[in-house]
Amino acid sequence: MASLHLGVNLDHVATLRQARYATMPDSKNTEPDPIVAASLCERAGARGIVAHLRADRRHMQDRDLERLRANIMTKLNLEMGNTPEIIDFALRLQPDEVCLVPEQRQEITTEGGLDVVRHERELRATMKRFHAAGIRVSLFIDPAPEQVEMARALQADMVELHTGALANAFTEKIQEQELNRLQTAAMRAANLGLQVNAGHGINYRNVALIHKIPHLAELNIGHSIISRALFVGIENAVVEMLALMRNYPG
Ligand code: PXP
Repeated sequence: MASLHLGVNLDHVATLRQARYATMPDSKNTEPDPIVAASLCERAGARGIVAHLRADRRHMQDRDLERLRANIMTKLNLEMGNTPEIIDFALRLQPDEVCLVPEQRQEITTEGGLDVVRHERELRATMKRFHAAGIRVSLFIDPAPEQVEMARALQADMVELHTGALANAFTEKIQEQELNRLQTAAMRAANLGLQVNAGHGINYRNVALIHKIPHLAELNIGHSIISRALFVGIENAVVEMLALMRNYPG
């Protein structure tokens, strides 16, 4: 039985704060604080904290990342687009890991994996800079063989397989196809020596399907845990998800 670790993405704690306080960041009433949320998630058993610093700063702000870096006890995984401004920020911040994701201004959330085949050249340069700084690099990719192969060729430490298509499958047939793609990609990535993570759209119901994907080390989950936290509190929300992740066959 393998143990599956949980990284909690706290972007939407910041989303809630920004909904009221975006124009008053220094107000004495500003809440909720992602750093408090991070401590509670760690106390409940999360093995990492994930935050996405977007170019438009719609949820997490630079200061949030600096405070997370200073306060968390587990590890900080910074999700980011491959752009000069955010790369410079990340190199100053020194997260334990970065996860490179595609980023488009109009999207509500990250819609697809990063096309690492198409962006090979820019990624190669970025990976070198992070590795020289001792920061592990994950590539958030669609579960396609050519993406996995290229992640290996780029010397990524990890891949995070995009589970959005599985989570949102409308029919059982599509679900089966997506599961198949994820299983094949996970096996290939593990054979190539990559750490295999998964994320996007994972919730308390569909996490059972995730157990059918082999070789996973870590799940990164945001929206469903933060949503559940509204009703049961964030520690309970994390504990409940961890219970559903137990007994992962590996
Ligand atoms: N992993 C990556 C790379 C993401 O971009 C996101 C969304 O920010 C997540 C995991 C978390 O997705 P969700 O909020 O749907 O759980």
